This record gives sequence, C-alpha cells and structure tokens, in this order.
Amino acid sequence: MIADGDYNIIYLNRSSEHLFHDAREDFGTLIPQFNPDKILGKNIDFFHQNSAHQRNILEHLEKTYTKEMQIGNRVMVITANPIIDLDGERIGTVVEWTDRTAEVAIEREIDSMVEAASQGDFSTQLPLENKTGFFHNLTQGLNSLASNTDAALADMQRILGAMHAATLLNA
Ligand code: HEM
Repeated sequence: MIADGDYNIIYLNRSSEHLFHDAREDFGTLIPQFNPDKILGKNIDFFHQNSAHQRNILEHLEKTYTKEMQIGNRVMVITANPIIDLDGERIGTVVEWTDRTAEVAIEREIDSMVEAASQGDFSTQLPLENKTGFFHNLTQGLNSLASNTDAALADMQRILGAMHAATLLNA
C-alpha cells in the first residue's frame, strides 16, 4: 500500500485488500472502527493508536524499516520504504504487510521439538494438519528424523540390555 506525502492512503493492491479482510477481527481488537472496505483515502493516523509515533518514524525514514507486531491473534510484519523524488524530497511511503502467524506457530513447534530432543526425548511428533508446501515437507522431514532416532535409540537400549543379561548369565 502507498501513502502520499501527507500520509493519505492512495493505493492498495489486491493482496493487501485480502489481508485486511482476512485479519479484520484481529485489527478490530486494536482499532474498533476498523472496516477493511474503507481504507483507501483515509489518513494513516486513523489506524494508529499513537499516530505521532508512526509519523516520527516515517518522517525520518531513509531506508527500509521493518517491525514485527502482535495484532490480535496474528503476528504481522510491516515493511516500510520511503518514496524519494529526484530532488531528494520524500513524497510518500510504500508499505508491505506480511502475515507471519503460521510461520511463527511452526517456529514455536520446532523449538519445542528441538528442546525435547536436546533432553534426549525424540518421541515428539509435530501435527501435519493445515500445513502445505515447504512447512508440510519440513514437518514431515523432522517427524521422520525424530521417529527414526527414537527407534534407533530403542534398538540400542534393547541390544545393550541383551548384552548385559548375557554377561550376567556367563558370570
Ligand atoms: C501506507 C500506510 C501505512 C503506513 C505508512 C503505516 C506505518 C506504520 C508503521 C511504521 C508502524 C510501526 C510502528 C512501530 O514501529 O512501532 C505501524 C504500525 C501499525 N499500523 Fe500502520 N501504517 C499504514 C497503514 C496502516 C493501516 C491501513 C492500518 C490498519 C489496518 C495500520 C495499522 C497499524 C497497527 C495496528 C500498527 C501497530 C500498533 C500501533 O502502533 O498502532 N496501519 N504502521
């Protein structure tokens, strides 16, 4: 999305429209009067709890600014870039929103699996439901890595147990 030099929103692409519709309830927790069909033409101050804060960041923006934020149940990343004209004047700001909710949930799942593995527990399996593409493949790979290691450790325990029993018999 693009805001002009006075911070009026002058452009929204399809994917940001989709994102605001999908996340309307989450944005609503911070902005009670939020309506995803009424963004174009509004000043960005309308959407910000402390508008002086955003203006201060954008006023001094010379390079890419990125911030991860909790919005309702979602984790959103905002990436803002200044639009500078040939005379070096800042004439607007372009902003991209990314919904990182699914990624962050998977990062947390993987963290808990790695934590358990570091304690010697390879029995954890991560859910495959609602995962597609890269995350589905990654989860499948980690699950089989953990279950293969778990099975190998169980085999090792059986073998060591049998060797121990045999030693006792021969003693
Ligand atoms: C081109 C338009 C926009 C610009 C340039 C902009 C800029 C920013 C920036 C720089 C931040 C990060 C502040 C920080 O680091 O703490 C931010 C936060 C935020 N923005 Fe925007 N924004 C825009 C449009 C919108 C719209 C349309 C919404 C509502 C759906 C929105 C809602 C929020 C919320 C909820 C936060 C975090 C909480 C807060 O600081 O109020 N923004 N915005």
